[in-house]
Amino acid sequence: MSTTSEIRRTFLDYFVKNDHREVASSPLVPLNDPTLMFTNAGMVQFKNVFTGAETRPYNRATTSQKCVRAGGKHNDLDNVGYTARHHTFFEMLGNFSFGDYFKDEAIAQAWELITKVYGLPPERLLVTVHSTDEESAGIWRKVTGFPDSKILRIPTSDNFWAMGDTGPCGPCTEIFYDHGDHIPGGPPGSPDEDGDRFIEIWNLVFMQYDQRTLDERVSLPRPSVDTGMGLERLAAVLQGKHDNYDIDLMRRLIEAVAQIAGTDPDGPHRVSHRVIADHLRACAFLIADGVLPSNEGRGYVLRRIMRRAMRHGHMMGCRDPLMYRLVPALCSAMGDQFNELNRAEPLIVETLRLEETRFRQMLERGLRLLDDEVAGMEAASRTELAGDVAFRLYDTYGFPLDLTQDALRARSMTVDVSGFQTAMERQKAEARKAWAGSGDSATETLWFDVQDRFGATEFLGYTGTSAEGVILGLVVDGTLVNEAAPGTEVLLIANQTPFYAESGGQSGDAGVISVEGGGRVLVRDTVKKLGALHVHVGTVADATVSTSQKAHFEVDRERRNGLRAHHSATHLLHEALRRRLGKHVTQKGSLVAPDRLRFDFAQPTPLTREDLAAIEADVNREIRENTPVITRLMEPEDAIKAGAMALFGEKYGDEVRVVFMGSPDDQDTERTFSIELCGGTHAARTGDIGVFKIVSESAVASGVRRIEAVTAAAALEWIDEKEQLVDSLARLLRTAPAELPTRLQAMMDERKKMERELSDMRKKLATGGGAGPAGDAPKDVGGVPFIGRVLDGVPGKDLKGMVDEIKAKAGSAVIALISVADGKASLVVGVTDDLKGRADAVALVKAGAQAVGGKGGGGRPDMAQAGGPDGDRAGEALAAIEAALAG
Ligand code: ALA
Repeated sequence: MSTTSEIRRTFLDYFVKNDHREVASSPLVPLNDPTLMFTNAGMVQFKNVFTGAETRPYNRATTSQKCVRAGGKHNDLDNVGYTARHHTFFEMLGNFSFGDYFKDEAIAQAWELITKVYGLPPERLLVTVHSTDEESAGIWRKVTGFPDSKILRIPTSDNFWAMGDTGPCGPCTEIFYDHGDHIPGGPPGSPDEDGDRFIEIWNLVFMQYDQRTLDERVSLPRPSVDTGMGLERLAAVLQGKHDNYDIDLMRRLIEAVAQIAGTDPDGPHRVSHRVIADHLRACAFLIADGVLPSNEGRGYVLRRIMRRAMRHGHMMGCRDPLMYRLVPALCSAMGDQFNELNRAEPLIVETLRLEETRFRQMLERGLRLLDDEVAGMEAASRTELAGDVAFRLYDTYGFPLDLTQDALRARSMTVDVSGFQTAMERQKAEARKAWAGSGDSATETLWFDVQDRFGATEFLGYTGTSAEGVILGLVVDGTLVNEAAPGTEVLLIANQTPFYAESGGQSGDAGVISVEGGGRVLVRDTVKKLGALHVHVGTVADATVSTSQKAHFEVDRERRNGLRAHHSATHLLHEALRRRLGKHVTQKGSLVAPDRLRFDFAQPTPLTREDLAAIEADVNREIRENTPVITRLMEPEDAIKAGAMALFGEKYGDEVRVVFMGSPDDQDTERTFSIELCGGTHAARTGDIGVFKIVSESAVASGVRRIEAVTAAAALEWIDEKEQLVDSLARLLRTAPAELPTRLQAMMDERKKMERELSDMRKKLATGGGAGPAGDAPKDVGGVPFIGRVLDGVPGKDLKGMVDEIKAKAGSAVIALISVADGKASLVVGVTDDLKGRADAVALVKAGAQAVGGKGGGGRPDMAQAGGPDGDRAGEALAAIEAALAG
């Protein structure tokens, strides 16, 4: 008997042998489709190849595609566990022709694989075709030799396949397996076709049309083929089982559940085992593909699946969280084909453990409440639970509506769904009133409206930089509008986006939103409103854009890469600072831009050059280690226990994102160089940061220092600029860059020497040491010899010494020197001893000071000094001193 893994391999190998390219499964979150919640068929990743919008280097492909059917058009959640063939997660085997082969070859290959390779007996098989598709009926007749009684014509949508309301579609032909007349049920198209005897195993879709909108259907450029065969169903048939949950793969998971729960795998908890085995796969694969539990969108569907499984764990009597302990069994069963499971194992384990721990605490109390409510109802009216009770369970205990419905199912009771919705609306209205009364500005209440109408934006940007979305709202001049013309400044809200909205210091993303119909929004920033809405800020270009249009969101990748590198470098810097300076270093503020980072932190004293060099070296060593950056979702206490630094002033919900970065701790490999709570986007590996360079260190406030730094391309630019500066200096000084210090030192020494010489020359000139006017004889003023001079550029502090020199030379004189430097006047008056009775230096200097706008003046009778701001009136000051001396 072949295992499920072997069956998958046989399928892929068969088509590879028939010239198909084996393509990996695409992620469960379809990034190329805004209308689809989860990938629900193999053709999803090829949607644009069918329509001709995208080309690939091959025109035949084969895959085993991960699919989730929970939420949206194909939703199987509520049936899982109770039926033989419903799953939330399953694999779809498929072969695809993009305008290459069509019906003939598709049917011939399918038949050969099923009957020759897998060896299913033809007498157990029958096929259906759409009643308009005689061509396919003819091909089947030729290939199989079947009579018409085994080629059933079906007129309904059962034989017309569409992925959703829009997208590629076409008639299909299906292969059925007859499990035998011991099982009740009729062939397809018969009144009892819903029985379990005839099971559809393979659907071959002949893609011929593109459903553009609800009313517009056009032919595809090249008819194509899309097929889908549920791996689990096929395995059941090939392994002689009637129930998908009896195949080797599901059985392994069920036995793992039973073993951990201490139950009998075939005992009374059969349904719960199946629910858990199925939901475990859906949860693990969704988490591996970037979905995390939340109260909105995909995250909410994941949470519903998780909680449904957890309730079944509880029903089996397990007192402790169970799901996370099953992850190793799943990885060993499926990790070979899907390596993402192995890669994300810690995240999956952690997320499941956290959700289950928290949910279990609420579950017991909630179920008790439910029991009490039901017990309090009249026995006769125990058919429907009141909507507000279901809402209370949701609101207080986190019971999704379907979980309450599931719990009541065993008692054959339902829930008043419209009452539930009314209670939900009432609560929203109250929250809104509370907000409007809190004094926030009117524009902020607009965002409340927006959130009410459209819900939180789903952020897809942790795993990529482009995605499809639908425009939900446009805000122009503070008002919601339906369309915006080219040139308009607009705020755009979509159902989902890869654009990061500014928060936690990281700048918002910029990029382009290309709208179907040709319009574009050039986004220059993305901001966050109410903690949940990503608001794209930009200008409309090319054509009008309107709400409800689909759009392609493309983040400016280079800019985002810069942001990622600077954000990751900030974490490494934070830790390097703490290791060098001490644990008192805490974050006081941070800016992460595409081309720089700024980090403010508590630190009483400036950093030394050695500190800076050591910190820079630490960060660069971590970069070179090139370790992966790992993100996990954890409970705050666990995160702190793991060694995470809580960031300053951040608000967190119940779960926190924890970013692990850098080399592992020697003792405990779970711990890495840096562990921080953070919602930002990061480098995939530290090596992506490239290089880290501190460009400044300064004070911002008392006890707070600031480091500015650059990384990656910005660091190279910074280094380049420095290099160019050095080069141009070297050119200017006509020397080699390496000779610059010696050359500059020599120039500075020379300049000092010249300054000294210049000063000496001036002094000589002033004191009459040389030829010229300085040597003029004293002038007689009222019988007293007077020497008065205005000097240019002599420092004020040199005047006294000069006066002393002149005194000595002249023997008997009153000397007044006024020097003008930088527009200001300095005055010194000296009186030789023999003249002390005749003149007072203090009085004279004061007279001079007044003339240059000075107020004071002081000293001794033989030597006094003063200053004044009006240097250009130095001549008048000298005249005033002379006049005062003349008396
Ligand atoms: N896309 C087709 C299906 O999902 C094959 O059944």
